[in-house]
Amino acid sequence: MGDIYDNVMELARRRGFVWPSAEVYGAVAGFIDYGPLGAMMKRRVENLWREFYIIREGYYEIECPTVGTEAIYVASGHVKGFADKMIQCPHCGEYARADHIAEAHGTENAATLSKESLARVIQDLPCPACEEQIGFTEVFEFNLMFETTIGPGSQRKGYLRPETAQGIFTDFARLLRFYRNKLPFGAVQIGKSYRNEISPRQGVIRLREFSQAEAEIFVHPDEKEHPAFGAYADYRVPLLGIEQQEKGQDPVVATMREAVDAGLVANEYVAYYVALTHDFMARSGVDPAKMRFRQHLPDERAHYAEDCWDAEIHSGRFGWVETVGIADRTDYDLRAHAGHSGDSFTVFVPYDEVRYETRTRIVPDMGVLGPKYRGTAKAIADALAAADPGEDGVEVTVDGERIFIPADTYEVREEEVEVRGDEVMPHVIEPSYGIDRIFYSILEHTYDEEIVDGEVRRVLRLPPGIAPVQVAVFPLMTRDGLDAIARDIVQTLSGRGVLTQYDDNGAIGRRYRRQDEIGTPFAVTVDYETKDDRTVTVRDRDTMQQIRCGIDDLPVLLASLLDGSVEFSALVQ
Ligand code: GAP
Repeated sequence: MGDIYDNVMELARRRGFVWPSAEVYGAVAGFIDYGPLGAMMKRRVENLWREFYIIREGYYEIECPTVGTEAIYVASGHVKGFADKMIQCPHCGEYARADHIAEAHGTENAATLSKESLARVIQDLPCPACEEQIGFTEVFEFNLMFETTIGPGSQRKGYLRPETAQGIFTDFARLLRFYRNKLPFGAVQIGKSYRNEISPRQGVIRLREFSQAEAEIFVHPDEKEHPAFGAYADYRVPLLGIEQQEKGQDPVVATMREAVDAGLVANEYVAYYVALTHDFMARSGVDPAKMRFRQHLPDERAHYAEDCWDAEIHSGRFGWVETVGIADRTDYDLRAHAGHSGDSFTVFVPYDEVRYETRTRIVPDMGVLGPKYRGTAKAIADALAAADPGEDGVEVTVDGERIFIPADTYEVREEEVEVRGDEVMPHVIEPSYGIDRIFYSILEHTYDEEIVDGEVRRVLRLPPGIAPVQVAVFPLMTRDGLDAIARDIVQTLSGRGVLTQYDDNGAIGRRYRRQDEIGTPFAVTVDYETKDDRTVTVRDRDTMQQIRCGIDDLPVLLASLLDGSVEFSALVQ
């Protein structure tokens, strides 16, 4: 077997999974096309994700524009801070990420180093493009957002979204109403995101246009127990915590209950989505033995985040690749949008029982303030109501003007008030998935080669629910009515929503190999026996074992095999 990436990508290009975009004009790094089988398989992965998040968790999907106004990304912090550190090689003029050069030569977490430190680290290292020793050169920041303008001749700046999350945050108030003003609730979005990556050299792993599937779950800051935690409490996952990383140890395999109780994972919500992510990826076809969850180190984690874990998948070419980020982002995003937009991003949480509190209230003497301040008297009275009175008086700000109101123009009253609840700014738990990376990992992990009858058999051992083509139907010969029976079977299965491919081209062995290579889990062959007894052969891709089945029983049998409720091995005598 050669390099796994080369083998997988050769198959992916040749058989229509994925290829470089617009090759006729010379493909540009970071852009890919999903071909006929790839687009179908990607959709199946996304639909499985929907099954987990929408159907099971109950978080509805929304769809926002991929172009956003500048205000959104000023508030989110992307305009100021969404940058990578890069250099331009003084020898060949190519741009490269300074932290990637450092990491490729053994510096860990180079992205957390300052520009000056990075410049020192890489000066003795070779340029990844021309391999000359870089020497001393400036490291500078490059904002990864694609900028655009909105409308003709417009001064209005916009950005292609660098993540799908912001659409959910800016829709917070409407979503809150949709969910009847109650925490916790969540919304998800699957769609394209754009990052003008500096020099994407890792094929399908680092793209400039890629698909994300993100969930934003809004929870009460003091209630981080997931209501369905029990479903994953005993689920075991390999966890590489901060301590294991600092001591150079292997991941610990722990249940989610143990991880939360030991304080390894910050709370049940984060742990729940760690386990759910493991479950989802294993069901998609990612090899569980090549999966781990790595906690962000303190200098790597965003300052506002309470905890953050990356799901990493091992690739034969790229090593451990971050594929999903699961973070407790506290109230950072909502607070930022509240501050910039002036809108409310809180939830009214009622108490179980009404409480009574003593509050100080300033009651202005309008007989004095009215004639003195005329048009602004009402605004002053409102400002006084919220002010904290001093001994001699209180200063209020009205329309930007600071006005001192003497104590003899108002009365301070202590009042008992009824309080029914609190305005709470929720915290955000965010599992964020890179679909393209999951897609590639599935291809790499399910790709297999074996020698059968003296020839190499290439097979994608895709889970039946993920395989693009679900069933292949072959007539042994294209005569004596066998082809008509096969076409009838295709029609019946298609009518039941099974993606079925008819193939009568070449020797039967070749036809099996073609389907094995694209991961079709089951093949049905119509032969001369079919004409006598209306039975066909059903062949299992992985074991190549065969059984006979009546044509009329086929739809039910294949449906159970495809949804995994029946194992093929159980049918073989
Ligand atoms: N809202 C949080 C967020 O966007 P992120 O870690 O920047 O977090 C989440 O991105 C996931 O998106 C990553 O784990 C990765 O799988 C995927 N991703 C990010 N940049 C990518 C790129 N340039 N190409 C392909 N996938 C990418």
